[in-house]
Amino acid sequence: MALQLGDVAPDFTQDSTQGTIRFHDWMDDSWVVLFSHPKDFTPVCTTELGQVEKLRREFEKRHCKVIGLSVDSVEDHRAWMNDIQETQGARPSFPMLADKDRTVSNLFGMIHPNADDTATVRSVFIIGPDKKVKLTLTYPASTGRNFDEVLRVIDSLQLTATHRVATPANWKQGEDCIIVPAVSSDDARKLFPKGFREVKPYLRITPQPNA
Ligand code: BEZ
Repeated sequence: MALQLGDVAPDFTQDSTQGTIRFHDWMDDSWVVLFSHPKDFTPVCTTELGQVEKLRREFEKRHCKVIGLSVDSVEDHRAWMNDIQETQGARPSFPMLADKDRTVSNLFGMIHPNADDTATVRSVFIIGPDKKVKLTLTYPASTGRNFDEVLRVIDSLQLTATHRVATPANWKQGEDCIIVPAVSSDDARKLFPKGFREVKPYLRITPQPNA
């Protein structure tokens, strides 16, 4: 069965551009974004990896490690890094798994045979410090991902892990949040000293608690 939200992310040992990775040890107590791309030396992937590197400080600020993957070799990954530097102005400093034997791709369900039976699709897994899967995304090879959206989700996950709120459509850091339905309005008055607006009994809006 496909990996689902709340599952413990599978542990694995695999080669990478930064040596052998033992995944759970490598994660330590960080948040992690694990993402696959279909193939080295391809145009959309080249832009994606450059873009992720350009956002490096943003991931660091969120105590989030990034790790890429395709079923190509370490040698290919390393050679391609030069092209990414040349064309995107950024050389990935995060490790790239060389999943030639498909250990990780199979554990995480990154190969969708009816789309392509050899290459990985564009998967994203956000994994929490508790090693549990918090988000999964799957994009086709033809569509590059929006990594600002990945950062936005991390912000929401980190906020909602510690406050009893949810975030509305298109929410961004600093904007109003929604009080979760399980909190009574009596409790909400104590929990949310900034106050809240009751649009409907199930739709209560409060300023972001930690902003
Ligand atoms: C790309 O990254 O450009 C790409 C990779 C595989 C199939 C199609 C496009």
